[in-house]
Amino acid sequence: NSLPDTLIIGKKVIYLPTCHSTNDIAAEIVHAGLFSEGTIVITDDQLSGRGQRGTKWVANPGENLTFSIILAPQFLEIDNQFLISQTIALGIRSYVASYLAETQVKWPNDIQVNGKKICGILIENSIQGANLKSSIVGIGLNVNQLSFENSFATSLSTETEEAFVLSDEFQKLARHIDAYYLRLRSRKQDKELRDEYLNNLYGYSNDVKFSYQERIYSGRVSAVSKQGKLSVRLSTGEEIADLGLKEIVWIK
Ligand code: BTN
Repeated sequence: NSLPDTLIIGKKVIYLPTCHSTNDIAAEIVHAGLFSEGTIVITDDQLSGRGQRGTKWVANPGENLTFSIILAPQFLEIDNQFLISQTIALGIRSYVASYLAETQVKWPNDIQVNGKKICGILIENSIQGANLKSSIVGIGLNVNQLSFENSFATSLSTETEEAFVLSDEFQKLARHIDAYYLRLRSRKQDKELRDEYLNNLYGYSNDVKFSYQERIYSGRVSAVSKQGKLSVRLSTGEEIADLGLKEIVWIK
């Protein structure tokens, strides 16, 4: 496996045939204080993958991309940490969109194709003073897996009916994420990145359903704040503002 042709992402790659969670291994490396930015921990078989909201992440061994990137976004204030989420989601989206037209980001940062989830992202930040110190970006991208327990999951192979060489896709994906991370780092494209995020966001240009405080609503995303909080405009015209991850559940 050769290294990707990138400036930051994947300049160093640590491959483990199997491990419990690449995010946990990455955290150990960060705590040891011996990492260079862009280091990736990648595995073929993750035994206890973690998802958002305390869920488990399960993937067939050897069929998908399962890795964590260590970033050192010290240029970002805590208040702006959602920009990491946004940037990574956009990088992965642009990679998936190179194969599949109907690729969207589902707030906060799932990547979905034709309404089905193809990639999950779990970001764990550590802070120092008023800024970020490190960010562990865990990515689970379904590539060659063809059957899923969850009927709302899909993969590149399922959608394109092609088989992929994982190492090629890893390099290509790393290049997309690298390009977006460099844009974030320049801090000169905050508006462009924000617009691209909104324009590719599930529920931004069409009504969708979600549950909130045990009731089901229909409406569309009206804004995502700098802190990553979601606001939705109900079909009735009323707005529910500044929702966090635990306050809203999308309904297919
Ligand atoms: C989600 O959608 O719930 C997030 C899933 C994140 C899964 C990835 S796989 C690599 C990394 N290691 C983990 O334990 N989780 C992330």
